[in-house]
Amino acid sequence: MKVLFVASECAPLVKTGGLADVVGALPKALTAAGTNVRVLLPGYREVMAWLSIQAEEPVEVATFGDLFGEAGRVLAVRGAGLDILVLDAPGHFDREGPIYVGFDGADWPDNPFRFGALARVAVEIAANGLSDNWAPDLIHAHDWQTGLIPIYLEERAAARVPVVFTIHNISYQGRFSAGSRRRLGLPEAGFTSEGYEFYGQINFMKAALVGADAVTTVSPTYARELESPAFGNGLEGVLAARAAHGTPLTGILNGIDEEVWDPAVDPAVAPFDVKHLSARDRGRQGLAAEFGLKLDRAAPLFGVVSRLTEQKGLDLLLADVPRLVSAGGGLVLLGSGDAALEAAFREATARYPDRIGIRIGYDEDLAHRIYAGADVIAVPSRFEPCGLTQMYAMRYGALPLVARTGGLADSVIDANDAALRAEVATGFQIEPGSQAAFSDGLERVFALYRDRRAWRGMQRNAMRHPVGWDKAAGAYVELYSGLLGVG
Ligand code: ADP
Ligand code: GLC
Repeated sequence: MKVLFVASECAPLVKTGGLADVVGALPKALTAAGTNVRVLLPGYREVMAWLSIQAEEPVEVATFGDLFGEAGRVLAVRGAGLDILVLDAPGHFDREGPIYVGFDGADWPDNPFRFGALARVAVEIAANGLSDNWAPDLIHAHDWQTGLIPIYLEERAAARVPVVFTIHNISYQGRFSAGSRRRLGLPEAGFTSEGYEFYGQINFMKAALVGADAVTTVSPTYARELESPAFGNGLEGVLAARAAHGTPLTGILNGIDEEVWDPAVDPAVAPFDVKHLSARDRGRQGLAAEFGLKLDRAAPLFGVVSRLTEQKGLDLLLADVPRLVSAGGGLVLLGSGDAALEAAFREATARYPDRIGIRIGYDEDLAHRIYAGADVIAVPSRFEPCGLTQMYAMRYGALPLVARTGGLADSVIDANDAALRAEVATGFQIEPGSQAAFSDGLERVFALYRDRRAWRGMQRNAMRHPVGWDKAAGAYVELYSGLLGVG
């Protein structure tokens, strides 16, 4: 079974969030399950730089004269344990700055054509194959950036392969002005409420939800939440229509790459494992030294590694900083995003420099050190399709304090009395979006931290909790097989 993954991010080549981690890890698990996967990515400047330092010379496997006014070609290379296909189209992707937005924080104005080109090329690969004699049996497309694939496939009789579309976050839909539809070559007949039109605009994610053969999302709880307007962001009706036609949304919980995220061999951290948990203290001390913190041994150090957006609910943590500090706790936060949140966390560290350390920016190694050194990782999200940081936390022996939503609800076992007695608890769950619930959660964490035996037991449960990709890979293979009528 040959599968073409199409996505706008892939770790370790280019990453802004969990999508990259999934696209960088799931193909390896699918390969282990007997599937042949190639991953098509945009040739952003950083991806081209990564290509240039690979041991293997990239091979040109397709060329395109006109992708919305820009020339492009596809380069194939094996690297990072993956079969990568890079869409080298400099006019679209070779530019200074972040991948989705310019330095002013506004979306690149040509985003519909940049990601339209990615979708077009995926469809051409399905129609014509690549010059190294490879053509996919199925396309697995991820998030709005790949949303036009089903529409373009519809027009290419030679390219009739099934499409699986995975929603990683429905709050980013790729909405663009209706005026772009002619240049994008979108059929006029589809510009309706049953098609890719959404309140007078083009909606890339809606195009995929309408046209894909199967739609999945990244946790069972988020799949259920997406049925309601509070989570569906206006697309709940489209999902309901799919369900009525017998193709309901299914939730498949993400895993993590257990080879990359292994505290025993991770080059970014002082090594430890579940049998040598006391060695973990060095990570905590290292973090304290790095941020100039004076920590109370009897109180937990909280860690956060996150995009700073409304979704992540970190305003709740911010409001409780005085409470956390007066109880003896500390905090290390790594993140970037919303300017007001960045400024507010900077103020918190100015006020409590001995207890609170902040790094605004993106830093992969520091992220690993925080998972390895913090006692608790806070993820108080208002919604969370899956969330990977709580899984990294568990694997590194930091107990997650999470909101009971989406994949957070599906991956963390709350330290309630029953779970503590059965010795299965791996973290703390709180009601989402509530300050009172967050404060309550803090109290529970502080109380349990004082019981060193119970805490150690939870750390061991967390580190042993299964977070690999095997189960999800099996579910995707079953889905692919069903669509292809094999197996
Ligand atoms: P989301 O995709 O919504 O941002 P996830 O929890 O699925 O949330 O994934 C976030 C990923 O991005 C994790 O791998 C996390 O470690 C990483 N990450 C987030 N912010 C930063 C940062 N500032 N520096 C380094 N890694 C970060
Ligand atoms: C999105 C979601 C996050 C999820 C990730 C990978 O970025 O916000 O919850 O873990 O995709 O699926």
